[in-house]
Amino acid sequence: MSRTVYLNGVYMPEEEATVSVFDRGFLFADAVYEVTAVLDGKLVDYAGHAARLTRSLGELKLAKPFTDEELLAIHRELITRNNLEQGGIYLQISRGSEGDRDFVFPKHAAPTVFLFTQAKTLTDPKKGMRVISVPDIRWGRRDIKTVQLLAPSMAKMAAKAEGKDDAWLVEDGYVTEGSSNNAYIVTKDDKIVTRNLSNSILHGITRAAVLKLAAERNMEIEERAFTIEEAQQAKEAFITSATVFVCPVVEIDGVAIAGGEPGPVATRLNDLYIEEGRKAAI
Ligand code: PDD
Repeated sequence: MSRTVYLNGVYMPEEEATVSVFDRGFLFADAVYEVTAVLDGKLVDYAGHAARLTRSLGELKLAKPFTDEELLAIHRELITRNNLEQGGIYLQISRGSEGDRDFVFPKHAAPTVFLFTQAKTLTDPKKGMRVISVPDIRWGRRDIKTVQLLAPSMAKMAAKAEGKDDAWLVEDGYVTEGSSNNAYIVTKDDKIVTRNLSNSILHGITRAAVLKLAAERNMEIEERAFTIEEAQQAKEAFITSATVFVCPVVEIDGVAIAGGEPGPVATRLNDLYIEEGRKAAI
């Protein structure tokens, strides 16, 4: 069945939504995006995603084309119109177009604002993922959530070509993050280790929430870089994102982690995140 999507102020069937071929999102990947999870028809961690969107727009000097209240209302209207119980909402804002190709930012273009829903089960028990490592060839501002996703897409395809699920990206010998998620290990002495925040990684909204939940339960956290070798010897490994919440990693470059089974820390954090995310969803 056709979805109702939102494009530039209008709710319409997905087949009717069209964007100019000169749109800078299409020609230059000059666009930012967000993905917000939906549970029980409500938005999970919405405030974090809205705040990161504002930051991404600011970093690219893209004007914010709506108020916070308007954006929340659009999300809610899409959930209602599509009867979305579980899944996510994708939002993209590009710099629009002035009807030609030019490296210089257009002065008078209106941004293109596009949102759509994706139905997906998010609460099923996780089997765990097998990942490979690949070089991180992305640009230097990974803290901005832009739609330049060719490098992560190629990383994911490299994993698929080896019959695996995903890729961890490695730069200067250290893991930055997963192709579309933040990466973690649990050390032998039960510390949760994940890369510290910088321009090298996306500042995950799920990451912030999960680290807060862990800290509140007195789990020890170390925000620092780690290598693939350290990860292969860890007690557990896992990833976080708005599309998988907390998902165990059970194999890295052919080496089984936690005996190749989802570990207790990742499983507990996933249960906690779903429980607390549900309570706080709006
Ligand atoms: N990706 N790192 C990268 C490179 C990502 O693309 C994502 C999210 C994350 C996790 O961020 P968050 O917890 O805010 O979802 C980390 C989204 C889900 C995507 O591209 O579909």
